[in-house]
Amino acid sequence: MSSNQTINSLTTFYGVFGSPISHSRSPLMLNRAFQENGINAAYAAFHIEQGTLKAAIDGIRALRFRGVNVTIPYKVEVMSYLDEIDEGARVIGAVNTIVNENGKLIGYNTDGIGYVRSLCEETGISLQGKRVLLLGAGGAGRGIAYALAKAGAEIVWVSNRTESKANELVSYISLLTEAKYIAAEAIAGIIDKVDLVVNNTSLGMYPNINEIPLDPSLLHDKLVVSDIIYTPMETLFLKEARARGAKTHGGLGMFIYQGAYAFEYWTGQNAPIQAMREIVLQSLT
Ligand code: ATR
Repeated sequence: MSSNQTINSLTTFYGVFGSPISHSRSPLMLNRAFQENGINAAYAAFHIEQGTLKAAIDGIRALRFRGVNVTIPYKVEVMSYLDEIDEGARVIGAVNTIVNENGKLIGYNTDGIGYVRSLCEETGISLQGKRVLLLGAGGAGRGIAYALAKAGAEIVWVSNRTESKANELVSYISLLTEAKYIAAEAIAGIIDKVDLVVNNTSLGMYPNINEIPLDPSLLHDKLVVSDIIYTPMETLFLKEARARGAKTHGGLGMFIYQGAYAFEYWTGQNAPIQAMREIVLQSLT
Protein backbone atom coordinates (compact mmCIF):
# COMPACT_ATOMS: atom_id res chain seq x y z
CA MET A 1 0.00 0.00 0.00
CA SER A 2 1.40 3.35 -0.91
CA SER A 3 1.42 6.39 1.30
CA ASN A 4 -1.18 8.33 -0.69
CA GLN A 5 -3.72 5.50 -0.99
CA THR A 6 -5.88 4.13 1.77
CA ILE A 7 -7.02 0.56 2.23
CA ASN A 8 -10.82 0.60 2.31
CA SER A 9 -13.72 -1.74 1.74
CA LEU A 10 -13.15 -1.69 -2.02
CA THR A 11 -9.45 -2.55 -1.94
CA THR A 12 -8.42 -5.58 -4.01
CA PHE A 13 -5.82 -7.79 -2.33
CA TYR A 14 -2.73 -9.48 -3.69
CA GLY A 15 0.33 -11.15 -2.21
CA VAL A 16 3.36 -13.36 -2.52
CA PHE A 17 3.57 -16.78 -0.83
CA GLY A 18 6.96 -18.23 0.05
CA SER A 19 9.43 -19.22 2.74
CA PRO A 20 11.57 -17.32 3.56
CA ILE A 21 9.81 -14.20 2.31
CA SER A 22 11.02 -11.23 4.35
CA HIS A 23 13.68 -10.35 1.72
CA SER A 24 11.11 -10.15 -1.10
CA ARG A 25 11.04 -6.93 -3.10
CA SER A 26 7.76 -7.87 -4.78
CA PRO A 27 5.51 -5.94 -2.31
CA LEU A 28 7.55 -2.78 -2.86
CA MET A 29 7.46 -3.18 -6.64
CA LEU A 30 3.81 -4.18 -7.07
CA ASN A 31 2.41 -1.60 -4.63
CA ARG A 32 4.35 1.04 -6.55
CA ALA A 33 2.80 -0.23 -9.78
CA PHE A 34 -0.74 -0.11 -8.36
CA GLN A 35 -0.13 3.39 -7.08
CA GLU A 36 1.31 4.57 -10.41
CA ASN A 37 -1.74 3.28 -12.29
CA GLY A 38 -4.21 4.59 -9.69
CA ILE A 39 -5.51 1.13 -8.77
CA ASN A 40 -7.07 0.57 -5.34
CA ALA A 41 -5.08 -2.52 -4.39
CA ALA A 42 -2.65 -3.78 -1.77
CA TYR A 43 0.07 -6.44 -2.04
CA ALA A 44 1.68 -8.14 0.97
CA ALA A 45 4.26 -10.85 1.66
CA PHE A 46 3.03 -14.04 3.37
CA HIS A 47 5.35 -16.47 5.08
CA ILE A 48 3.78 -19.86 4.40
CA GLU A 49 4.97 -22.68 6.67
CA GLN A 50 5.64 -26.13 5.20
CA GLY A 51 2.41 -28.14 5.16
CA THR A 52 0.09 -25.13 5.04
CA LEU A 53 0.26 -24.20 1.36
CA LYS A 54 -3.05 -25.84 0.46
CA ALA A 55 -4.83 -23.91 3.22
CA ALA A 56 -3.20 -20.71 2.02
CA ILE A 57 -4.34 -21.36 -1.55
CA ASP A 58 -7.89 -22.06 -0.37
CA GLY A 59 -7.62 -18.74 1.44
CA ILE A 60 -7.19 -16.97 -1.92
CA ARG A 61 -10.65 -18.22 -2.87
CA ALA A 62 -12.22 -17.55 0.53
CA LEU A 63 -10.82 -14.02 0.86
CA ARG A 64 -11.23 -13.26 -2.84
CA PHE A 65 -7.67 -12.16 -3.48
CA ARG A 66 -7.35 -11.31 -7.18
CA GLY A 67 -3.86 -12.69 -7.51
CA VAL A 68 -0.83 -14.16 -5.82
CA ASN A 69 2.79 -14.75 -6.72
CA VAL A 70 4.40 -17.95 -5.54
CA THR A 71 8.08 -18.23 -4.83
CA ILE A 72 10.67 -20.61 -3.37
CA PRO A 73 10.02 -23.37 -2.29
CA TYR A 74 6.42 -23.68 -3.51
CA LYS A 75 6.47 -23.15 -7.29
CA VAL A 76 6.02 -26.88 -7.97
CA GLU A 77 3.81 -27.98 -5.05
CA VAL A 78 1.28 -25.21 -5.73
CA MET A 79 0.36 -26.81 -9.06
CA SER A 80 -1.58 -29.54 -7.18
CA TYR A 81 -3.98 -27.04 -5.64
CA LEU A 82 -5.01 -24.98 -8.68
CA ASP A 83 -8.00 -25.40 -11.01
CA GLU A 84 -6.18 -24.82 -14.25
CA ILE A 85 -2.55 -24.50 -15.36
CA ASP A 86 -1.47 -22.52 -18.40
CA GLU A 87 0.41 -24.54 -21.04
CA GLY A 88 3.74 -22.76 -20.51
CA ALA A 89 3.67 -23.34 -16.76
CA ARG A 90 2.74 -26.98 -17.32
CA VAL A 91 5.68 -27.59 -19.63
CA ILE A 92 8.08 -25.78 -17.31
CA GLY A 93 6.63 -27.64 -14.32
CA ALA A 94 6.37 -24.55 -12.10
CA VAL A 95 3.88 -21.77 -11.33
CA ASN A 96 4.87 -18.32 -10.05
CA THR A 97 1.63 -16.40 -10.69
CA ILE A 98 -1.98 -17.23 -9.80
CA VAL A 99 -4.97 -15.39 -11.21
CA ASN A 100 -8.30 -15.75 -9.38
CA GLU A 101 -11.09 -15.69 -11.98
CA ASN A 102 -14.21 -15.61 -9.80
CA GLY A 103 -13.04 -18.45 -7.59
CA LYS A 104 -11.28 -20.42 -10.33
CA LEU A 105 -7.52 -20.35 -9.73
CA ILE A 106 -5.33 -20.37 -12.84
CA GLY A 107 -1.55 -20.85 -12.66
CA TYR A 108 0.96 -19.18 -14.96
CA ASN A 109 4.72 -18.90 -15.14
CA THR A 110 5.99 -15.41 -15.92
CA ASP A 111 9.68 -16.03 -15.07
CA GLY A 112 10.74 -17.24 -18.52
CA ILE A 113 8.74 -14.73 -20.57
CA GLY A 114 9.85 -12.00 -18.16
CA TYR A 115 13.44 -13.01 -18.77
CA VAL A 116 13.08 -12.98 -22.56
CA ARG A 117 11.32 -9.61 -22.61
CA SER A 118 14.04 -8.09 -20.46
CA LEU A 119 16.83 -9.65 -22.56
CA CYS A 120 15.38 -8.41 -25.85
CA GLU A 121 14.53 -4.91 -24.64
CA GLU A 122 17.79 -4.35 -22.79
CA THR A 123 20.24 -5.80 -25.34
CA GLY A 124 18.31 -5.38 -28.61
CA ILE A 125 19.10 -9.02 -29.48
CA SER A 126 16.81 -10.79 -31.93
CA LEU A 127 16.52 -14.39 -30.75
CA GLN A 128 15.47 -16.10 -33.96
CA GLY A 129 18.08 -18.75 -34.79
CA LYS A 130 20.53 -17.59 -32.12
CA ARG A 131 22.65 -20.37 -30.62
CA VAL A 132 22.54 -20.56 -26.85
CA LEU A 133 24.82 -22.08 -24.24
CA LEU A 134 22.93 -22.51 -20.97
CA LEU A 135 24.91 -22.77 -17.76
CA GLY A 136 22.83 -24.47 -15.06
CA ALA A 137 19.75 -26.65 -15.23
CA GLY A 138 17.70 -25.86 -12.12
CA GLY A 139 14.12 -24.60 -11.89
CA ALA A 140 14.98 -21.15 -13.21
CA GLY A 141 16.97 -22.64 -16.09
CA ARG A 142 14.01 -24.71 -17.22
CA GLY A 143 11.69 -21.69 -17.48
CA ILE A 144 14.30 -19.67 -19.30
CA ALA A 145 15.18 -22.47 -21.72
CA TYR A 146 11.50 -22.94 -22.58
CA ALA A 147 10.90 -19.22 -23.15
CA LEU A 148 14.08 -18.78 -25.22
CA ALA A 149 13.17 -21.74 -27.41
CA LYS A 150 9.58 -20.45 -27.81
CA ALA A 151 11.06 -17.12 -28.94
CA GLY A 152 12.98 -18.88 -31.72
CA ALA A 153 16.42 -19.39 -30.16
CA GLU A 154 18.22 -22.69 -30.48
CA ILE A 155 19.29 -24.00 -27.11
CA VAL A 156 22.21 -25.97 -28.40
CA TRP A 157 24.29 -26.72 -25.34
CA VAL A 158 23.43 -27.20 -21.66
CA SER A 159 26.21 -27.37 -19.13
CA ASN A 160 25.58 -28.28 -15.51
CA ARG A 161 27.51 -29.63 -12.52
CA THR A 162 25.06 -32.56 -12.35
CA GLU A 163 24.86 -34.12 -15.81
CA SER A 164 21.56 -35.94 -15.14
CA LYS A 165 19.80 -32.62 -14.43
CA ALA A 166 21.13 -31.17 -17.68
CA ASN A 167 19.74 -34.19 -19.51
CA GLU A 168 16.37 -33.74 -17.80
CA LEU A 169 16.24 -30.16 -19.06
CA VAL A 170 17.23 -31.30 -22.54
CA SER A 171 14.30 -33.73 -22.64
CA TYR A 172 11.89 -31.09 -21.24
CA ILE A 173 12.52 -28.80 -24.18
CA SER A 174 13.07 -31.48 -26.82
CA LEU A 175 9.85 -30.68 -28.69
CA LEU A 176 11.01 -27.10 -29.20
CA THR A 177 14.76 -27.35 -29.68
CA GLU A 178 17.42 -30.02 -30.01
CA ALA A 179 19.82 -29.38 -27.15
CA LYS A 180 22.58 -31.57 -25.74
CA TYR A 181 24.62 -31.73 -22.56
CA ILE A 182 28.14 -30.39 -22.75
CA ALA A 183 30.83 -30.97 -20.14
CA ALA A 184 32.57 -27.85 -18.80
CA GLU A 185 35.91 -29.02 -20.28
CA ALA A 186 34.39 -29.20 -23.78
CA ILE A 187 33.04 -25.62 -23.86
CA ALA A 188 36.33 -24.24 -25.23
CA GLY A 189 35.69 -26.25 -28.40
CA ILE A 190 32.27 -24.73 -29.14
CA ILE A 191 32.37 -21.22 -27.68
CA ASP A 192 33.10 -19.64 -31.09
CA LYS A 193 29.77 -21.00 -32.37
CA VAL A 194 27.76 -19.55 -29.46
CA ASP A 195 25.75 -16.29 -29.72
CA LEU A 196 24.29 -16.12 -26.22
CA VAL A 197 25.54 -17.50 -22.88
CA VAL A 198 23.07 -17.53 -19.98
CA ASN A 199 24.06 -18.19 -16.38
CA ASN A 200 21.20 -19.91 -14.55
CA THR A 201 23.33 -21.19 -11.69
CA SER A 202 23.62 -19.49 -8.33
CA LEU A 203 27.39 -19.04 -8.79
CA GLY A 204 28.34 -15.40 -8.14
CA MET A 205 25.26 -14.53 -6.11
CA TYR A 206 25.73 -12.45 -2.98
CA PRO A 207 27.51 -13.26 -0.65
CA ASN A 208 29.60 -15.56 -2.93
CA ILE A 209 30.48 -12.77 -5.32
CA ASN A 210 33.87 -14.21 -6.32
CA GLU A 211 32.38 -17.38 -7.84
CA ILE A 212 32.08 -17.62 -11.62
CA PRO A 213 30.17 -20.20 -13.70
CA LEU A 214 32.58 -20.32 -16.69
CA ASP A 215 36.30 -19.84 -17.31
CA PRO A 216 36.32 -16.12 -18.25
CA SER A 217 39.17 -16.54 -20.75
CA LEU A 218 36.58 -18.25 -23.01
CA LEU A 219 34.45 -15.10 -23.28
CA HIS A 220 34.72 -13.03 -26.47
CA ASP A 221 33.32 -9.91 -28.07
CA LYS A 222 30.79 -11.64 -30.36
CA LEU A 223 28.81 -12.91 -27.36
CA VAL A 224 25.80 -11.64 -25.51
CA VAL A 225 26.39 -12.74 -21.91
CA SER A 226 23.42 -12.85 -19.56
CA ASP A 227 23.16 -13.60 -15.86
CA ILE A 228 19.88 -14.11 -14.00
CA ILE A 229 21.46 -13.02 -10.70
CA TYR A 230 20.70 -9.44 -9.64
CA THR A 231 22.40 -9.33 -6.25
CA PRO A 232 24.96 -8.03 -7.10
CA MET A 233 23.54 -6.22 -10.12
CA GLU A 234 26.77 -6.88 -12.04
CA THR A 235 28.23 -10.29 -11.20
CA LEU A 236 31.91 -11.13 -11.63
CA PHE A 237 30.84 -13.15 -14.70
CA LEU A 238 29.30 -10.06 -16.30
CA LYS A 239 32.27 -7.87 -15.35
CA GLU A 240 34.65 -10.33 -17.02
CA ALA A 241 32.40 -10.52 -20.09
CA ARG A 242 32.18 -6.74 -20.38
CA ALA A 243 35.96 -6.42 -20.04
CA ARG A 244 36.29 -8.77 -23.04
CA GLY A 245 33.94 -6.74 -25.21
CA ALA A 246 30.81 -8.87 -24.86
CA LYS A 247 27.38 -7.29 -24.56
CA THR A 248 26.06 -8.01 -21.07
CA HIS A 249 22.63 -8.36 -19.47
CA GLY A 250 21.95 -8.59 -15.72
CA GLY A 251 19.14 -10.29 -13.82
CA LEU A 252 17.25 -7.28 -12.50
CA GLY A 253 15.14 -6.95 -15.64
CA MET A 254 13.89 -10.52 -15.29
CA PHE A 255 12.62 -9.75 -11.80
CA ILE A 256 10.93 -6.55 -12.98
CA TYR A 257 9.29 -8.14 -16.02
CA GLN A 258 8.08 -11.30 -14.25
CA GLY A 259 6.24 -8.90 -11.94
CA ALA A 260 5.10 -6.77 -14.87
CA TYR A 261 3.52 -9.78 -16.60
CA ALA A 262 1.78 -10.77 -13.36
CA PHE A 263 0.48 -7.20 -13.03
CA GLU A 264 -0.80 -7.33 -16.61
CA TYR A 265 -2.54 -10.69 -16.12
CA TRP A 266 -4.24 -9.42 -12.96
CA THR A 267 -5.27 -5.93 -14.05
CA GLY A 268 -5.41 -6.03 -17.85
CA GLN A 269 -3.34 -2.83 -17.83
CA ASN A 270 0.19 -2.18 -19.09
CA ALA A 271 2.63 -2.32 -16.20
CA PRO A 272 4.45 0.94 -15.33
CA ILE A 273 7.88 -0.58 -15.92
CA GLN A 274 9.89 2.58 -15.26
CA ALA A 275 8.32 3.25 -11.85
CA MET A 276 8.74 -0.40 -10.87
CA ARG A 277 12.40 -0.43 -11.90
CA GLU A 278 13.16 2.81 -10.08
CA ILE A 279 11.77 1.67 -6.74
CA VAL A 280 13.55 -1.69 -6.89
CA LEU A 281 16.81 0.02 -7.85
CA GLN A 282 16.46 2.38 -4.90
CA SER A 283 16.07 -0.59 -2.57
CA LEU A 284 19.22 -2.25 -3.98
CA THR A 285 21.56 0.71 -3.78
P1 ATR B 1 16.81 -22.34 -9.16
O1 ATR B 1 15.38 -22.75 -8.97
O2 ATR B 1 17.09 -20.95 -8.67
O3 ATR B 1 17.27 -22.56 -10.55
P2 ATR B 1 18.06 -24.75 -8.33
O4 ATR B 1 16.95 -25.51 -8.98
O5 ATR B 1 18.54 -25.19 -7.00
O6 ATR B 1 17.67 -23.24 -8.19
O7 ATR B 1 19.30 -24.72 -9.37
C1 ATR B 1 20.53 -24.14 -9.07
C2 ATR B 1 21.49 -24.32 -10.26
O8 ATR B 1 22.78 -23.84 -9.85
C3 ATR B 1 21.71 -25.77 -10.66
O9 ATR B 1 22.02 -25.82 -12.03
C4 ATR B 1 22.93 -26.17 -9.81
O10 ATR B 1 23.67 -27.24 -10.31
P3 ATR B 1 23.27 -28.78 -9.92
O11 ATR B 1 22.13 -29.16 -10.80
O12 ATR B 1 24.49 -29.56 -10.18
O13 ATR B 1 22.89 -28.73 -8.46
C5 ATR B 1 23.75 -24.90 -9.93
N1 ATR B 1 24.71 -24.77 -8.84
C6 ATR B 1 24.46 -24.39 -7.57
N2 ATR B 1 25.60 -24.37 -6.84
C7 ATR B 1 26.61 -24.75 -7.67
C8 ATR B 1 28.02 -24.91 -7.54
N3 ATR B 1 28.66 -24.69 -6.37
N4 ATR B 1 28.73 -25.31 -8.62
C9 ATR B 1 28.12 -25.53 -9.80
N5 ATR B 1 26.78 -25.39 -10.00
C10 ATR B 1 26.03 -25.01 -8.96
